[in-house]
Amino acid sequence: MDLILRNCLLRNTKSFVDIAIKNGVIELIEPKIKEKNDKELDLAGAIVLPAFSDPHVHLDAVLTAGHPRHNESGTLLEGIQIWSERKKELTFEDVYQRAAQAIKWSVAQGTINIRTHVDTCDESFVALRALLKIKEDFKNFANIQIVAFPQEGVLCFPRGVELLEESLKLGADCVGGIPHFEWTREDGIRQLEIVFELAAKYDRKIDIHCDETDDEESRFLEHVCALAIRYNFGEKTLAGHTTAMHSYNNAYAFKLIRLVAHSGISVIANPLDNAILQGRFDTYPKRRGLTRVKELLSAGVNVGIGHDSIMDPWYPLGRGQMLQAAFVLLHMCQMSGRSEQTSVLDMITYNNAKALNINNYGIAQGNIADLVVLDAYDEFDVLRLMPQALWVIKNGKIVAQTPCLETKVYFGDEKENIHFSKKL
Ligand code: FE2
Repeated sequence: MDLILRNCLLRNTKSFVDIAIKNGVIELIEPKIKEKNDKELDLAGAIVLPAFSDPHVHLDAVLTAGHPRHNESGTLLEGIQIWSERKKELTFEDVYQRAAQAIKWSVAQGTINIRTHVDTCDESFVALRALLKIKEDFKNFANIQIVAFPQEGVLCFPRGVELLEESLKLGADCVGGIPHFEWTREDGIRQLEIVFELAAKYDRKIDIHCDETDDEESRFLEHVCALAIRYNFGEKTLAGHTTAMHSYNNAYAFKLIRLVAHSGISVIANPLDNAILQGRFDTYPKRRGLTRVKELLSAGVNVGIGHDSIMDPWYPLGRGQMLQAAFVLLHMCQMSGRSEQTSVLDMITYNNAKALNINNYGIAQGNIADLVVLDAYDEFDVLRLMPQALWVIKNGKIVAQTPCLETKVYFGDEKENIHFSKKL
């Protein structure tokens, strides 16, 4: 064996198990594995989850907040304007270093599978080239997928179609889109057709920024679904944001959600960014501007959660922790019921992995040993505490470790060590 984890707590169980890993794969899960191994970790009842996935982040823009200026209005459109100014200063080294830092933060907190968008409205493709190099250099540390993302449009940007196609030839894994950014509705629909034509031609997956607006007239998701059905691309297609769904009338939303389920596409909500960006044109009451997560889930749609931004022109906060994104979604979607909390944890594990087409995922014999051990001793403490990742394991190898934190409290002459996940 390469590694044996002792006394692990798994979800939906009370008793502990041992997990043996060999050649990067989970070899055995038993209450007590007799075999002794050189390399063993005693988890003392800490919970083990399959590693998190982040299906939606912008690694080319991370850690640029405030450069050249801060987004004072907090709107998506000011963010895009600031980014187009910052983009002129991008260098290979600049993108590489910032992205590397964000990946290390993410992996340290248990995220192994990462899908990043990269802005391809750039004749030099400097960010794409840097992220392709990152993908190769970090392959033993994180699984990275790259989306060619036409941030400033396809038809409304000079040579937009050619730039998108060129980025696929350079090696992007997915074709991206942003139909609501085009000048007209018709151009938005044409953009989506181009995206599907390119994906079919180059055998790539599809990942659309879709209807990221509070405009209830923005209805591109139905076209994404229709095209996914016609091209038989359901499992290979992902729609991010879909925040306009929050504002659709209920009759249209009902029809649309059935279509989304029928198409087989995945939907990714990005609660951190959209909590900040949406509702900015409202007075009171202010819309929350998040897609209809509960309704999509109950219709059988695979819904996941993305981090989206880490300190960039759209979202000035963030640390690359998927638990934080899940925590915010739980609140904004009011998923506080016991079974709903379980669903939110599924979203950043199983649902996100499914959206990214990750195979052999999960804690079962024969699956890839991509695991995270959290400083929590009860499944329901994972979202309550957003605990640190004590160990992060990729392909059976430890790629990050954080010591267990204890706080000393002093009262009078006495002192005591307290630990937030150990309750009376
Ligand atoms: Fe995004």
